[in-house]
Amino acid sequence: MQVVVVNEKEALSTYIARDFMNYVSGHNRVVFGLATGSTFTGVYKKLVHQHQNSNLSFKPVMTFNLDEYMDLESNHPQTYRNVMNRNLFDCVDIDKRNTFFPPIKKNIRFSVYDDMIEKAGGIDCQYLGIGVNGHIAFNEPGTSFTIKTHKVALADATREANKRFFDSKDQVPKHAVTMGLSTIMKARRIVLAASGEKKAEAIRGMLYDPISEQMPATVLRQHSNVVVVLDRAAAQFLEEGEYDTTEIFGAC
Ligand code: F6R
Repeated sequence: MQVVVVNEKEALSTYIARDFMNYVSGHNRVVFGLATGSTFTGVYKKLVHQHQNSNLSFKPVMTFNLDEYMDLESNHPQTYRNVMNRNLFDCVDIDKRNTFFPPIKKNIRFSVYDDMIEKAGGIDCQYLGIGVNGHIAFNEPGTSFTIKTHKVALADATREANKRFFDSKDQVPKHAVTMGLSTIMKARRIVLAASGEKKAEAIRGMLYDPISEQMPATVLRQHSNVVVVLDRAAAQFLEEGEYDTTEIFGAC
């Protein structure tokens, strides 16, 4: 695992947006795994800016989002499809037929999503956030490392953290469909981003706790190509020595 520490959230967004753009400019076709959530809002803003003000084109891009809520009307502003449309897809030249979300229809085999990813040639780069409880995508503590895309009951901590996007916690859906940990681990490269002191404990656990299903993000230590991008607040419990750490303070 390579760890990159930048000054603050703005620099983190810049770093990840550049990472994304390097992929797009270097490839005729690229398959990304994407996350929603506040960590990536600034990244998508920068990508939209680059599209509008320079020559960044999303025509070669295919995307698979990590997760989708169940039990929301399709026109609800907080479905992850609608959040991604608003923040990115509607603002760039991506072909929306190349943007995918986990299937949420009842009576469907959710792991059909894994088959779709495989058929697309696999994910070149998977961008991930992390929950305060160490979840990645919506794989909550206790989830098997070998699971494919599946339905989950959201942990109380996750519904509490996400109530900021709804009028009240009661309105946060209780279920979602998420890429599984085995789906995520198949990506050729993974970039996990975290910002703010609320994430510092989860980052400490991911990097130093024993690898365990009780701490889902620890599975990433078994992947050979992972970059963790943190701002200083999220990196406050980093210890010296164990990881290859690059610090980029100042303009990024
Ligand atoms: C979102 C997702 C989640 C978030 C995580 C962090 O698609 O899969 O795992 O990445 O909950 O959310 P934020 O960025 O809002 O702190």
